[in-house]
Amino acid sequence: MLNIVILAAGKGTRMHSDKPKVLHGLAGRSLLQHVMDTATQLTPVCTCVIYGHGGDAVPQAMAKYAASFVLQEPQLGTGHAVQQALPHLKDNSTTLVLYGDVPLIQSHTLKLLLHKPEALNLLTLNMDNPTGYGRIIRDSAGKVISIVEEKDATPAQRAVTEINTGILAAPTQLLRVWLNNLQNNNSQGEYYLTDIVAMAVKQGVEVSTSQPRNYWEVMGVNSKVQLAELERLWQAEQALQLLQQGVTLADPARIDVRGKLVCGRDVEIDVGCIFEGEVHLGSKVKVGAYTIVRESKIEAGTHIAPFSHIDSASIGENCSIGPYARIRPGTQLHNDVHVGNFVEIKNSEIKTGSKANHLSYIGDSTVGSRVNVGAGTITCNYDGVNKHRTIIEDDVFIGSDTQLIAPVTVKRGSTIGAGSTITRDTPENALTLSRAKQLTVAGWQRPTKQKK
Ligand code: UD1
Ligand code: CA
Repeated sequence: MLNIVILAAGKGTRMHSDKPKVLHGLAGRSLLQHVMDTATQLTPVCTCVIYGHGGDAVPQAMAKYAASFVLQEPQLGTGHAVQQALPHLKDNSTTLVLYGDVPLIQSHTLKLLLHKPEALNLLTLNMDNPTGYGRIIRDSAGKVISIVEEKDATPAQRAVTEINTGILAAPTQLLRVWLNNLQNNNSQGEYYLTDIVAMAVKQGVEVSTSQPRNYWEVMGVNSKVQLAELERLWQAEQALQLLQQGVTLADPARIDVRGKLVCGRDVEIDVGCIFEGEVHLGSKVKVGAYTIVRESKIEAGTHIAPFSHIDSASIGENCSIGPYARIRPGTQLHNDVHVGNFVEIKNSEIKTGSKANHLSYIGDSTVGSRVNVGAGTITCNYDGVNKHRTIIEDDVFIGSDTQLIAPVTVKRGSTIGAGSTITRDTPENALTLSRAKQLTVAGWQRPTKQKK
């Protein structure tokens, strides 16, 4: 059984922000969400978040998670913070301590840390420059004897390069006893969580250490500078994983994955693309430069030309989209659909082989197969109060610059003459147009410039 305590009460002064530090975003999720999502993967019996600033902002932002939230006020140190969680922890279990501002910790590292349930397990790291961190002090046999904070350390102790990441796991009952015995007689007048190490040693409890697979897993965020650095490290990691799976990236430093990107074989992604939420790209999909795709599924062989924006849509096989296409939520494109430049599609279904290649708005519509939507065609779906549907059946040809005033049905095989305003259903296989007759005024003369 596992309890997880997440410390998130720090003020985050150096963020220079009104928002609690742990609610700042990294790759599309808040720092705390990253930690909560990783915690969830370990299936804890209890998760307890210690928060301190921003009123109810932290519990509110995390409402979808099954966790308890405890306000730590005042904040008297990391040991005091974990004390606040004690009433919530289940006994006969292990308690894992995580940090809301250390967002990129990964479950494989935590599983390694948790492999000795009877010991006090510390996650440590060797750093070239350990300045600012608590140091892991070992005896001549290499056994951990304590953690000393930088501010309390002797010069010899400061020379130690093995640091305390802060993340640790301990048997819950022992943790209760240790925390209740903490003192604050140190240079900062705080209750240090790290003091439990010396207590464990004194009691003969084994102190075990392990290291993270990647150093960025234990990097904390205290400033916007560190937040930006961590964002780049995480994006580099996403790009590396995509390359290792066989995705072609024009430049691994110019892709942003803010969620989960799942790719088939031989996918190609040009520079400057952003993927948000869960996005699936089928085999041989090509994504042109500066395209944004959010919460969408794009099937095999579809090509997206540059500067397209696709949100909450499902796009079939071998479609051709963009450049400058805008595909909005609720859009379903079947196979072999062409959507060209400056075409906006919202909440519409377009069936196989249909085309809207230039400057159109298709909203709240059902479009059949093999339909051609001419340039400048608009479905007028909104009467100022309500939205209405436009139905365009199979094999329709709509001439350019047509307005379809919904609700309206353009029947199978209809042809609509260019420039029409269609207000009533059109019959099958006929030409329908609404257009003032062309006339020529004989003998008309252009005005000429009058001399003053
Ligand atoms: C702590 C460790 C140090 C370690 C370092 C890693 C202690 C005494 N020291 O140092 O050994 O190298 O982390 O970054 O534990 N927090 C609360 N309530 C509090 C105090 C802190 O929730 O009263 C939270 C903070 O929001 C933060 C975390 O605990 O997420 C660590 O606090 P911080 O002040 O940054 O730790 P340090 O004292 O620098
Ligand atoms: Ca500090």
